Amino acid sequence: MAFNKTFLLHSRPSAEAPAGPHNFRLVEEPIPEPAEGEILVRHRWLSLDPYMRGRMNDAKSYAQPQKLGAPMIGGTVGEVVASKLEGFSPGDLVLGMGGWRLYSLASRATVRKLDPRALPEEAWLGPAGMPGVTAWVGLNTIVKPKAGETVVVTAATGAVGTVAGQLAKRMGARVVGVAGGSEKCRYATETLGFDACVDHRAGDFAQQFKAATPDGVDGVFENVGGLPLELSLARANPFGRIAICGLVASGYDGTPAAVTNFAAVLAMRLLVKGFIVGDDMSLWPKAYADLVPLIASGELKWARSMAQGLEAAPEAFFDMLKGKNFGKQLVKLV
Ligand SMILES: NC(=O)c1ccc[n+]([C@@H]2O[C@H](COP(=O)([O-])OP(=O)(O)OC[C@H]3O[C@@H](n4cnc5c(N)ncnc54)[C@H](OP(=O)(O)O)[C@@H]3O)[C@@H](O)[C@H]2O)c1
Repeated sequence: MAFNKTFLLHSRPSAEAPAGPHNFRLVEEPIPEPAEGEILVRHRWLSLDPYMRGRMNDAKSYAQPQKLGAPMIGGTVGEVVASKLEGFSPGDLVLGMGGWRLYSLASRATVRKLDPRALPEEAWLGPAGMPGVTAWVGLNTIVKPKAGETVVVTAATGAVGTVAGQLAKRMGARVVGVAGGSEKCRYATETLGFDACVDHRAGDFAQQFKAATPDGVDGVFENVGGLPLELSLARANPFGRIAICGLVASGYDGTPAAVTNFAAVLAMRLLVKGFIVGDDMSLWPKAYADLVPLIASGELKWARSMAQGLEAAPEAFFDMLKGKNFGKQLVKLV
């Protein structure tokens, strides 16, 4: 008999026991039956995203913490295997928030039917999904690059950064990426078409950053926080715009994303704005309308790191937070 497998959040990270795979517990249960108005989805892909680390903490944030003992949340692409919902049939491909498990029940409000011919199915969790829309929203509503301006994108080769940098290039900006390692930086310049990329692991990162931004910095798509943000503030031009998308390096383990030169915000009259991609859902169709054709035509490049099997999810998740991923981190479930 086939069973459903689910990762639950078992415990919260603490100062004594930092976050790790021990915080999750794998359980097996019977595969549920759909009730009237529901579908049963067999997940094919699970998305691993940095926001999940924040949900593990019991801390004030833009969303409620994940409940202990509840299935880990997560975006999924899957196939309908049983349906009691009009308009959905076995074989349909759907996008949802099925979580870290093999099967989930869904209703009309919680899934979106996908066109399997439009894009590779896992792209709906990456450049054509939440990360891609995040890049689009931060750039179009906050950074708003103008031709010739310099825009810095941190975590430049990750799921969000890849799209943010390429969109900024298409708007005519000079794009400077910040990424971990020479291989990622080479990918940013040679494949993604960024004008420069600085390795934040290099001993002379600060000098390299200055050399890569000879005309200062007009826009920042910030995914990391800490030192890269501090360097952008130090190089900021008057009336620069800084979109605070994520603080993966410094904020997620409970340490503040400190910068020592916040005074630059006043001196350079900067706009610094945090945003969450779900703040304005009316923007999503516009983002999809721009992104999907660019991905389908291959004009917008993207990469993926793929773990195999649900059991691999915890390790892949923490590896991503250490920068071991190359592009969108996914788990292939079938
Ligand atoms: N505001 C929103 O609505 C929203 C939505 C989605 C994502 N986000 C945020 O966007 C950011 C990127 O997310 P993503 O899904 O695209 O993840 P990602 O960039 O694919 O993966 C995380 C990357 O963060 C970088 N990183 C990790 N630790 C670091 C450190 N100590 N110093 C510098 N860089 C470090 C690593 O890249 P390197 O190897 O290059 O260092 C790693 O590959 C995250 O902060 C995430 O929380 C925000």
